[in-house]
Amino acid sequence: MTSLSILLLSISFSLFLPFASAARFTCTAKNPSTCQSLVGYTPVNATTLGAVRSLFQLRSFRSLLAANSLPLNTPQNYTVPALSTVRVRFPCYCSGGSGSSFGLPVYKVRPGDGLDAIARGVFAGLVTYEEVAKANNISDPNRIEVGQQIKIPLPCSCDMVGADPVVHYAHVAAAGSSISGIATAFGTTEDTLMKLNGITDPKSLQAGQVLDVPLEACSSSISTTSLDRNMRVPNGSYVLTANNCIQCSCSSTTWQLNCGPTQGISSLVCPAAKCGDMYLGNTSSNSACDSTLCSYAGYTNSTSFTIFTNLTTLSVCNNVASPVSQPKASSAFRLRLGLSSWSNLLFLFMLACSAFIGS
Ligand SMILES: *[C@@H]1O[C@H](CO)[C@@H](O)[C@H](O)[C@H]1NC(C)=O
Ligand SMILES: *[C@@H]1O[C@H](CO)[C@@H](O)[C@H](O)[C@H]1NC(C)=O
Ligand SMILES: *[C@@H]1O[C@H](CO)[C@@H](O)[C@H](O)[C@H]1NC(C)=O
Ligand SMILES: *[C@@H]1O[C@H](CO)[C@@H](O)[C@H](O)[C@H]1NC(C)=O
Ligand SMILES: *[C@@H]1O[C@H](CO)[C@@H](O)[C@H](O)[C@H]1NC(C)=O
Ligand SMILES: *[C@@H]1O[C@H](CO)[C@@H](O)[C@H](O)[C@H]1NC(C)=O
Ligand SMILES: *[C@@H]1O[C@H](CO)[C@@H](O)[C@H](O)[C@H]1NC(C)=O
Repeated sequence: MTSLSILLLSISFSLFLPFASAARFTCTAKNPSTCQSLVGYTPVNATTLGAVRSLFQLRSFRSLLAANSLPLNTPQNYTVPALSTVRVRFPCYCSGGSGSSFGLPVYKVRPGDGLDAIARGVFAGLVTYEEVAKANNISDPNRIEVGQQIKIPLPCSCDMVGADPVVHYAHVAAAGSSISGIATAFGTTEDTLMKLNGITDPKSLQAGQVLDVPLEACSSSISTTSLDRNMRVPNGSYVLTANNCIQCSCSSTTWQLNCGPTQGISSLVCPAAKCGDMYLGNTSSNSACDSTLCSYAGYTNSTSFTIFTNLTTLSVCNNVASPVSQPKASSAFRLRLGLSSWSNLLFLFMLACSAFIGS
């Protein structure tokens, strides 16, 4: 695995108050005011996935693996080479027009630490010392004490970008990079990045600047009453949902969630996910152009744990729909369901408010 890409910071935000206005990303979304967001953490020194997990105080190691599309059997001592980027997913809270992480992660000051070294060094420039000072009501940034607990307000957003479901990703611009290069690398446009980040002159981009990059996410036909109705999975990553019974991936071929039963989870704890005789993820072909898919439609815990499914018609003769024009419900999308490729990739999705899995 040469290029680690994304990390997932999963934190239990129900217990913490959001930071007061330390965030830099615009977040006007009100309903829902929380969502999953990502930061790209690029440590200057080599580290391990386990250390990244501790630094960002992730409850679940598997959530970190999922955000980075790493197999679930990846060990905690897996090396993250210096200057490679790991994606961390965490709950974002929008308030007063901006978004930031809840009261986590919390960093405990060590001997020799300064606020700037913590912001630029330990957290690799995802925050500035001014933001950290503000979030912690530190009036003199030169006066912090060893052992002091410092909240790190990670930047994030839940806003829609155009009509597309997106996951916001905080990207620290490397020296020598350009807005257009970053746009290309993340599947967006220069124009979108400039608008979103209030940049008028693309040449003004500076090394270390943190950009709000909207990652295209897969849409789904998950029922609005489902506990995971707000699930957004960016291209190239995977989640486990429905108490880990269901694994869903996002492929930029269809921009639909591809969901099936999680491999290796006992069928004793997971209710059957079937549409009549068909299992979740199974397709049956009706004609040369049409087939039927047993698709995932959400789950509930209200009376008992139930997984919803839905028969969806796939039209394999249509042109590939763009993500923008992707229908919301009874979707007709191009057939592409490679469940077999999941067999050794098990991933964990953290629901916005709950259901952490220790590992
Ligand atoms: C990681 O830990 C395992 C045991 O937990 C050990 O066998 C392996 O050598 C370690 N790898 C590295 C690179 O430290
Ligand atoms: C990186 O490693 C160098 C050399 O060991 C050390 O001086 C520096 O503090 C480290 N930086 C961070 C952010 O840990
Ligand atoms: C922040 O610090 C100032 C003075 O240092 C104090 O008056 C104020 O009450 C503090 N606010 C909070 C929320 O702790
Ligand atoms: C989707 O992800 C793949 C692999 O991660 C990447 O090569 C591709 O450019 C991405 N597509 C978009 C539109 O982001
Ligand atoms: C239907 O789904 C089950 C369970 O995921 C799987 O074992 C089986 O291979 C699938 N059958 C077909 C025809 O795709
Ligand atoms: C739903 O119920 C299952 C078992 O019945 C439990 O493990 C899980 O934590 C519950 N999840 C939520 C989000 O309440
Ligand atoms: C199943 O899909 C149909 C449209 O194809 C939709 O009207 C219905 O609400 C869906 N059912 C569930 C449980 O999501």
